[in-house]
Amino acid sequence: MTRRGSVRVPTARRFLMCRPVHFDVTYSINPWMRPEVATDAGLAVKQWTQLRDLYVELGHTVVEIEPLPGLPDMVFAANGATVVGGRVLGARFRYPERGPEGPAYLSWFRANGYTDVREPEFVNEGEGDLLVAGERILAGTGFRTDSRSHREAEDFFGVPVVGLTLVDASYYHLDTALAVLSEDEIMYYPEAFSAESRALLRELYPDAITATANDAAAFGLNAVSDGRHVVLPEAAAHLVDALLDRGFDPICVDLSELLKSGGSAKCCTLELRPG
Ligand code: ARG
Repeated sequence: MTRRGSVRVPTARRFLMCRPVHFDVTYSINPWMRPEVATDAGLAVKQWTQLRDLYVELGHTVVEIEPLPGLPDMVFAANGATVVGGRVLGARFRYPERGPEGPAYLSWFRANGYTDVREPEFVNEGEGDLLVAGERILAGTGFRTDSRSHREAEDFFGVPVVGLTLVDASYYHLDTALAVLSEDEIMYYPEAFSAESRALLRELYPDAITATANDAAAFGLNAVSDGRHVVLPEAAAHLVDALLDRGFDPICVDLSELLKSGGSAKCCTLELRPG
């Protein structure tokens, strides 16, 4: 692949994922979800498996949590917790439909050797809204995660948390509107944020890649970067070019089935950052 910028060095990651065997759209808690549209769990599993295999090919480790019947959104592992330095802040979901996922993910961590596990006091939908960016956490609020949880995350992890307000219901989680590319680089869709948050992002990341409305609608910001490879849904054509210009290796995946629930690559991927 042509690399127009400097050569970037990837770092091996550990990801938690949940196979979408029970995938369906049976309720609607975001504007993408239309229960009247048919879904195909078999196709969801096939597309998800390609994503998992791609991570493994790139040298990452993938561990899996058992999918539970009746929780069709459990495939979106990013929402299950936030893990920094081996410490786990559990999730507490906004809507009752996803409520049982919080304890399910917490049990997985307890059963898998994590001892520093916190049951959250306030609503937070894991890495859907809490994105680790180098030495800080970028934290979304507006639709799902309660802004009071930002302080809870800051106290628990001992890392500064920067609050950002989302204003477009189509981009209801921070990870649908912003992606962390490296310790100090991001890409985002400015229109998804309040004027204050937009100004703050411009100040913190003056050189950020900004997405077009088409990129955002293709879930191009729901991307996973290892510092070099950026896995993102195909159709985010402008972002692919911008990433190549910056020396990243964009790799496109087709997760059309999961898009019916308002999720894509990043939503399926929870990073387990070691202590
Ligand atoms: N249907 C799910 C919801 O609305 C999709 C979650 C997508 N996850 C994410 N990290 N953005 O809750």
